[in-house]
Amino acid sequence: MKNREILQHAKYEKFAIPQININELIWIEPVLKAAESMKSPIIIATSDNLIPELGGYEFIYKTIKNKVQAMEITVPVIIHLDHSTSVENCRHAIDIGYDSIMYDGSKLPIDSNIAYTKQVVDYAHQGDVLVEGEVGGVGGTEDGISGNVKYASLDDCYQLVTQTNLDSLAPALGSVHGEYKGEPNLGFKEMEEIEAQLDIPLVLHGASGISDEELLKAIELGHAKINFNTEVKIAWAKQLRQTLENDKQLYDPQKIIGPSKDAIEEAVKSLIIKCNASNHA
Ligand code: 13P
Repeated sequence: MKNREILQHAKYEKFAIPQININELIWIEPVLKAAESMKSPIIIATSDNLIPELGGYEFIYKTIKNKVQAMEITVPVIIHLDHSTSVENCRHAIDIGYDSIMYDGSKLPIDSNIAYTKQVVDYAHQGDVLVEGEVGGVGGTEDGISGNVKYASLDDCYQLVTQTNLDSLAPALGSVHGEYKGEPNLGFKEMEEIEAQLDIPLVLHGASGISDEELLKAIELGHAKINFNTEVKIAWAKQLRQTLENDKQLYDPQKIIGPSKDAIEEAVKSLIIKCNASNHA
């Protein structure tokens, strides 16, 4: 299946492809293991802000590709650039081979968001590269990206989608990057309006901490890609703390890191279930 068809297929079949953000290269292996064992397509993403820290676009891309090959992974693996605010960086990632790009112009006036997103789409669509755009504001802080919750307006969503030929749209509707302070308050009424007007796969950012019921409702209302980072980070950190606590003499990196990688794998498996994505590869 072409990248271009994958999200359409998920929307039609009422599941979402989980996007898992990687924070270190050790994340890659357990994420792939989880996807393969659950027979789920998977999106492995890196925030543009974290790319230098992890070795650069090409290094990350090749490391994921090499792991896929070495582990004989058979499920679709989409390599995604998350939250890029630079058209130049998006072009560079596309040249290297990334399958999917998020150009995030959500903090710009809508006309500039449209103009820059369109530049990325025009470049990406010379090949089979997906482009995601964003409208409104996701709250919270993550990977150096901070923002306040601002509900996406239907009119802005309509303009961005119809004027750019985007592949997917992330309309911010109350979700938050990082941990929620209080209960999530997703705008399902607005989601329904956007879904009714625009037949495009939707993307939910800031999904850690949203209940299973609300995630399923979001999938029902057109979300075909759901992004997780914090939940996996918490599972990893919890296990790491426990391993070091259990044996204060431990210093062998494999013995320290091994159980945390298993924790990442287990966390991703449970997110795949939440997205209704198992057995969809
Ligand atoms: P969480 O950290 O809240 O899971 O959000 C992840 C995300 O939206 C990445 O784009």
